[in-house]
Amino acid sequence: MAEHIEPAEFVFDAESEAKIVKTLAKYPQGKQASAVLPLLDFAQRQMGRATGSAWVPKIAMDVIAARLGMPPIRVYEVATFYFMFNMAPVGKYHLQLCTTTPCWLRGSDEVVAACRKATGIKGWKETSADGMFTMTEVECVGACVNAPILQVNDDFFEDMDAASTEALLAALRRGEYPKPGSVKGRQTSAPEGGPTTLTTLNFPSSTAGAE
Ligand code: FES
Repeated sequence: MAEHIEPAEFVFDAESEAKIVKTLAKYPQGKQASAVLPLLDFAQRQMGRATGSAWVPKIAMDVIAARLGMPPIRVYEVATFYFMFNMAPVGKYHLQLCTTTPCWLRGSDEVVAACRKATGIKGWKETSADGMFTMTEVECVGACVNAPILQVNDDFFEDMDAASTEALLAALRRGEYPKPGSVKGRQTSAPEGGPTTLTTLNFPSSTAGAE
């Protein structure tokens, strides 16, 4: 991972503040530390809005610690435990590639190769020279049914292969944002080509008035 510069200041903006007030109201007095995860998320999203790179600087963690009345080390522990928080700047599009067994068996290697070819990124946690993409290898993201999965920022692109990966990254470069979900047009996790069971809602009449 390349060296990066940590900002000297971080102040929650109005959008984050509105969400913080709403979030803190959910917890009893004295239990505000429970809001550490959402506040980290708000900080990361704010950085994304402000700089185009969604990450959590150390100073933001210190601000959160002060806000929640907890020692900074406890915020660092939480932030570094969860993979969803980026501890260094990332590209505009954070490509999170699942390479766990189901995705691997369904072709994640070709998705990884296509991302490398399209972005010029050689390792993991690296950002392309144009700042557009960061590639991160992730463990199962819980969508194995439509493996392999390429997560872009918050969205899952499913049933990927080399061609669909190249097309997706090309669209992102053009400033387009294709619809997330199955690139094969699956209905949620139904078989390719459409559902094969429960294709009619004409249930037997005996179940209609069941007690
Ligand atoms: S293994 Fe990739 S989503 Fe589960």
